[in-house]
Amino acid sequence: MNILGIETSCDETAVCFIKAEGNFDADFRFRILGNALLSQAALHAKFGGVFPNLAKREHAKNLVPMLVQALEQAGELQKHREPTSVLPDIKTTLEREPELLEQLLPFLAQSKKPNIDAIAVTHGPGLEPALWVGVNFARALSAVWNVPIVAVNHMEGHVALSMMEDGRLAKFEFPVLALLISGGHTELVLSREWMKYERVGETRDDAAGEAFDKVARLLDLPYPGGPEISRLAEKARSENTPSNFKLPRPMMHEDNFDFSFSGLKTAVRRITEAQAPLSEEMKMDIAREFEDAVADVLVSKTLRAVEMYGANTVLVGGGVSANTYIRERLAEALEKADTPVELLIPPPELATDNAIMIALAGYFHALKKDFADPAELRANGNLKLT
Ligand code: KG4
Ligand code: ZN
Repeated sequence: MNILGIETSCDETAVCFIKAEGNFDADFRFRILGNALLSQAALHAKFGGVFPNLAKREHAKNLVPMLVQALEQAGELQKHREPTSVLPDIKTTLEREPELLEQLLPFLAQSKKPNIDAIAVTHGPGLEPALWVGVNFARALSAVWNVPIVAVNHMEGHVALSMMEDGRLAKFEFPVLALLISGGHTELVLSREWMKYERVGETRDDAAGEAFDKVARLLDLPYPGGPEISRLAEKARSENTPSNFKLPRPMMHEDNFDFSFSGLKTAVRRITEAQAPLSEEMKMDIAREFEDAVADVLVSKTLRAVEMYGANTVLVGGGVSANTYIRERLAEALEKADTPVELLIPPPELATDNAIMIALAGYFHALKKDFADPAELRANGNLKLT
């Protein structure tokens, strides 16, 4: 089955073309034939975070170029000899995205339908204005090419991608405990069988990635903050610079699986205000202590949830799972655990948002013919994983 994946939930405009076959077992395999991604991070950097309406406009501007790029890589960009004038009416579908419509109409008139069986698109959670652009784009393509749409939960996309290894499903056993850590979410989710989820804990305020981004801002580091903090913290560790600041480990010892990261940011703010102007050494010191605090909380809560639910596998997904130190700390802790636990973690370059994760999750739904009615399909910023 060939799947076109579309992701626009935050500040990455991504389109991919994958070929997948087989079921939830050893015969499953997939290949990435086209993968296009444009990050808007540099544009949002001056706001210190993602600005929803700017994200929406950028998606509208960039979706057609990303589609062309992904199809071209896949060898699926074929022109009609004569531009076709018979197209279903997609003007109503895209009335809120005139810039997208303006690029899409000539593209569709000139290009033949690619060899795809379904379109997988993120319909939540995320920034609603941004999600709508992808959803409406998918609805328009579905109408013109007459292919079904799979509406994908972005978090399930992170889960599906983390389950892969070298183009196949990794070997693991249920129950799987998923630690999902991204810019918008931090949650522990238990999966006892394929594609069924129970949330066992979540953040009560900021997400882990959001905390990285906010602390980076306090340290005058650019958005996205995760990689910047990680770089400074690593420098402090390798140079073994003295440690002068202590930060709290919020909710670490509480008897539940929830998180809270906003207090950590407030504690950093107190330090930065008291110490201004910050020297490079101080920034390194704070970055290391902050990363330690986040890692301590994530590792400790994950281990306790593993014991509580008898998980055989820990799966990590979302942008923060690109963090080298957090990856190492989790791996170390699970190696020491009394009973062996498998760790599934995405390659760092696929940990942050992309369309492949959406196409993969979409494939498994398409297998079950779990298609969306294009007329009913809605973006839902608060979509939950169930
Ligand atoms: O999953 P993702 O790409 O987008 C959302 O769905 O939110 O996650 C983005 C988040 C940002 O907050 C970014 O700062 C964080 O992931 N991130 C990192 C690292 N790389 C990205 N956080 C810590 N360390 C990193 N290396
Ligand atoms: Zn994400």
